[in-house]
Amino acid sequence: MSTLKVELLYERSNAEKEGYTLPYTEIEEDYVMDTIPKQWQRDKIGLPSVTETEVARHFYNLALLNYGVENGMYPLGSCTMKYNPKMNEEIASLNGFQKVHPLQMDDTLAGNLFLMYDLEDMLCAINGMDAFTLAPAAGAHGEYVGMSIIRAYFKDRGESNTRTKILIPESAHGTNPASAISAGFSVVEIKSTKTGEVDMDSLKANLTPEVAGIMLTNPNTAGMFEKNIKEIADLLHRNGSLLYYDGANLNAIIGYARPGDMGFDVVHLNLHKTFSTPHGGGGPGSGPVGVKERLIPYLPNPRVILNEVNKHNEEVEDRLIRKDDFKKSIGRIRLTDSSFGVLVKTYAYLLTLGENNIKNVAVNSVLNANYVRVMLKDDLKCYIDGICMHECVLSAKPLEKYGITALDIAKRLMDYGYHPPTNYFPLIIPEALMIEPTETESKEDLDKFIETMKIIVQEAKDNPKLLKDAPTKTPIRRTNDVKAAKDLNVAWK
Ligand SMILES: Cc1ncc(COP(=O)(O)O)c(C=O)c1O
Repeated sequence: MSTLKVELLYERSNAEKEGYTLPYTEIEEDYVMDTIPKQWQRDKIGLPSVTETEVARHFYNLALLNYGVENGMYPLGSCTMKYNPKMNEEIASLNGFQKVHPLQMDDTLAGNLFLMYDLEDMLCAINGMDAFTLAPAAGAHGEYVGMSIIRAYFKDRGESNTRTKILIPESAHGTNPASAISAGFSVVEIKSTKTGEVDMDSLKANLTPEVAGIMLTNPNTAGMFEKNIKEIADLLHRNGSLLYYDGANLNAIIGYARPGDMGFDVVHLNLHKTFSTPHGGGGPGSGPVGVKERLIPYLPNPRVILNEVNKHNEEVEDRLIRKDDFKKSIGRIRLTDSSFGVLVKTYAYLLTLGENNIKNVAVNSVLNANYVRVMLKDDLKCYIDGICMHECVLSAKPLEKYGITALDIAKRLMDYGYHPPTNYFPLIIPEALMIEPTETESKEDLDKFIETMKIIVQEAKDNPKLLKDAPTKTPIRRTNDVKAAKDLNVAWK
């Protein structure tokens, strides 16, 4: 991470300087002012006066302060940032993908519609589902869409007033309860076992006729596989309820297990996590939602389908249309049809890896997480011992006697040039450090990370102040997290 200090453009501003002069225009100023409504007219817009070179340097230097997966390891559990092949970025920026307008006529978009149609097929095969919508713009958006589909299904069956509750384990990602509530359900929290799995007694005690469904992440947010998933699915289905799969952790099982086979009725994926788009950093994301057959009528409009009218035409590409009047659909969920660039990258990624290589994603993500867990479990504490999936949760609890917390370790890691792991999540583990090395880190890099963690643990014992003061080598020292969240002020003074 650079220690560069960047001056604000406002600090360099000087009325004498000029960046760019717009070409002379014949349009009269009065004419322009007449066309702009009075309330939007301003004399001064308050932009800094700087040269073009200064602007270019300013933004380049700001970019140097950024930390990304190309600077170093990014072991952020639950919000994976892994290597994403550059080739896929190139493919997504080809003119035919990037320069089309989403509202162009279908017959000018045959290739792109085919990509969506074929990708839907692939995602169905990977997940064991019957149809997908590619529209949602993020994981949380997918959750909201999935919950709305479940609500529409029960409404159609005349059960909207009776199926009002969604069960969610206490270890769930925060977006799960938020999405269920936004879609009009109330949430009932299910207890977790010590290993972070669903507590079956708590589940059975809460499985009442009002339960519309359960939202589960498998592997769950503690990185553990729900071993009772078949029994859970049977219990829910016998109760007339549906199962929702939060697929943000699909990289751990891809190619080996399918949510559809586990009994899930609805699933969302985070393409910007599992399928070749970096997670975070301002998007765009993509959170497709897959459903079992009985829920297809409720998928959002539009859907890419084969036009039955043109049956005489043999080529699939020439028969694809976007149909946007499915009567039972929950409706359109965004202005454009999808985050198309992310779909292109996913498609390229799946075609490149193929059915057999995709399994290595799961193997390596699980292997890497377990390697880190085993190498560090004597330095930190592993409350959930045993084989984990794609991420492991360690705890800084043993360092409490030196006054050191999980946050101190996370901050000190920044001094060593690492992005910190997720901390204080999942909530069921005290002083949690949730590490997802991802499938794309080499053993050499994992060893360097492990060694750094060991050095930091030793520092915590010998010289805790080093950790308390950290980070000291970053452009901004330790911020007051609570103040930053509760009293946010991003304005330049
Ligand atoms: C388990 C889980 N569910 C849901 C989400 C929400 O996804 P998004 O950030 O795309 O809204 C995440 C984010 O990483 C997650 O880890």
